[in-house]
Amino acid sequence: MKLSKKQINKYKSLGILKVRLSKNILLKKKKFIDDSIRFFKYFDKITHTKKLKSHNFQDYLIKLRKRDRNLISKYYKVSRRFASLKSLIASEDLVKINKQLMKTNLVSICHFIAVRIDFYEEREKGYITKAHQDFPYIQGSLNGITFWMPYYSTSCAPDYIAGSHKSGLKIYKEFSINKNSGIKTLEMIKSTRNEDFSSISCKFNEMLIFSTLLIHKTSNKKEIKPRLSLQLRYDDISQRDMFNKNYPEGLYLGDTFKKNFKQYVR
Ligand SMILES: [Fe+2]
Repeated sequence: MKLSKKQINKYKSLGILKVRLSKNILLKKKKFIDDSIRFFKYFDKITHTKKLKSHNFQDYLIKLRKRDRNLISKYYKVSRRFASLKSLIASEDLVKINKQLMKTNLVSICHFIAVRIDFYEEREKGYITKAHQDFPYIQGSLNGITFWMPYYSTSCAPDYIAGSHKSGLKIYKEFSINKNSGIKTLEMIKSTRNEDFSSISCKFNEMLIFSTLLIHKTSNKKEIKPRLSLQLRYDDISQRDMFNKNYPEGLYLGDTFKKNFKQYVR
């Protein structure tokens, strides 16, 4: 997979690009989904998984959520260590695209948060992501990139504001999730208007490439089946100013945004 000049220019101007997956990447993605099914077949009771296959995986998860939500949480954590995920995320095809877009020879791969499962029934519980940029959570490099790949074709990929990456990093409010927890979360201070967001679809054989500075949010469209997606994140190690800011750390590793990016926190 190699991007054309036209594709690179489109990414630069919009901060987002949809591309077709190569056969090799598609195969690796299928292997990851197969491993996911294998995981549930191994840890769930056989009576529930006898007929479990890739085509009914979403229906299975709807039922499992009611029965054993913990197993799904465990999958979130364990799946990021699947050998098949590592093989997909580090594949030469994907690394090449990163080299092209970040103009670097030193590409790094973020090793936390790879899978997202969005159950419509859990929308009220705060699992939905509001308008944000990925950078403050990852704190890799400002030219960093996220590849967004759905497990199944969807018309509800994240909504985004085209070109919003161009105005750089926004100001955030950083606060504890609850009084007893030291875990911090962030909220973008700049308010966004719904009409500025565009929606986009993504087929099984496609992926979306996002700039780490693109403002985006979970689509509000209602879908009965859970949305499953992979978020593969890459950064440019050669960005010296980021390297000097204790790179690579991030909110997920307990490093607050304020610690290294004070001027962006209010
Ligand atoms: Fe995001």
